[in-house]
Amino acid sequence: MIEKIKKTSGYLQSQVKAKPAVGIILGSGLGGLVNSISVEKILDYNEIPAFPVSTVEGHKGKLIFGNLEGKNVVAMQGRFHYYEGYSMQEVTFPVRVMKMLGIKHLFLSNAAGGLNKAFEAGDLMIIRDHINQFPDNPLRGKNLEALGSRFPEMSEPYDKTLIAKAKKIAKENKIKVQTGVYVGSSGPTLETPAEYRHFRIIGADATGMSTVPEVITARHMNITCFGISVITNLAEPEDNDLPTTHDEVQKVAETAEPKMTLIFRKLIATLDEQ
Ligand code: HPA
Repeated sequence: MIEKIKKTSGYLQSQVKAKPAVGIILGSGLGGLVNSISVEKILDYNEIPAFPVSTVEGHKGKLIFGNLEGKNVVAMQGRFHYYEGYSMQEVTFPVRVMKMLGIKHLFLSNAAGGLNKAFEAGDLMIIRDHINQFPDNPLRGKNLEALGSRFPEMSEPYDKTLIAKAKKIAKENKIKVQTGVYVGSSGPTLETPAEYRHFRIIGADATGMSTVPEVITARHMNITCFGISVITNLAEPEDNDLPTTHDEVQKVAETAEPKMTLIFRKLIATLDEQ
């Protein structure tokens, strides 16, 4: 695995001059942030050695190197999902490559279903914690000691300082934000009414099919994480007879995306130069 990571990061280093300090993973319909990046290099996932190839409609599958708010960044437009059939090692491979390239911080976005009754479709939720409901953990198996410890500490999966700064940025820019717990599970099915209820009862505010594996892998390597969920639909199992569709999720995500992009941009601007 280490050799594979080195091979991919070595290839990428041969393609770009700047060393990224920040990694960014953008979820479905949330790729607009890349328009703010002054681009040094764009690579399709399928031209990167050992990278999996993204399959889902609407996920663009590009790795973008450039400068954002004075910081060197590497951004993934589209991610690898467990439900596509990838192993947890494949889903999280790009995070390990980004660490090898030098990132200190990882910013993640996703589309999620709202479980908290106070949420509305189109809301942004700053992720303050998560619950892993995937049937696997990316760190299962032999520990890669060169990357991190056998039993990684998870008391602050999402960086508290970044969360506080993001709330301040949202307030200054009159953007409504919620804060909450994200539960990640495999999909690809959306939840049944009973499953939505289950997730609410176990303490989650939003549910989706990503982010948790990437954050686990990043924390293993001591990368600070910041995540935002765009609430694309509401789970109201008792009285919602309108099914959630993938089209609806994409549409709401695209509408809410500029607000999320603004928070990411302004937050990245506050990061110390590495
Ligand atoms: N459930 C799971 N994943 C999702 C949802 C949802 O309701 N909405 C967007 N991604």
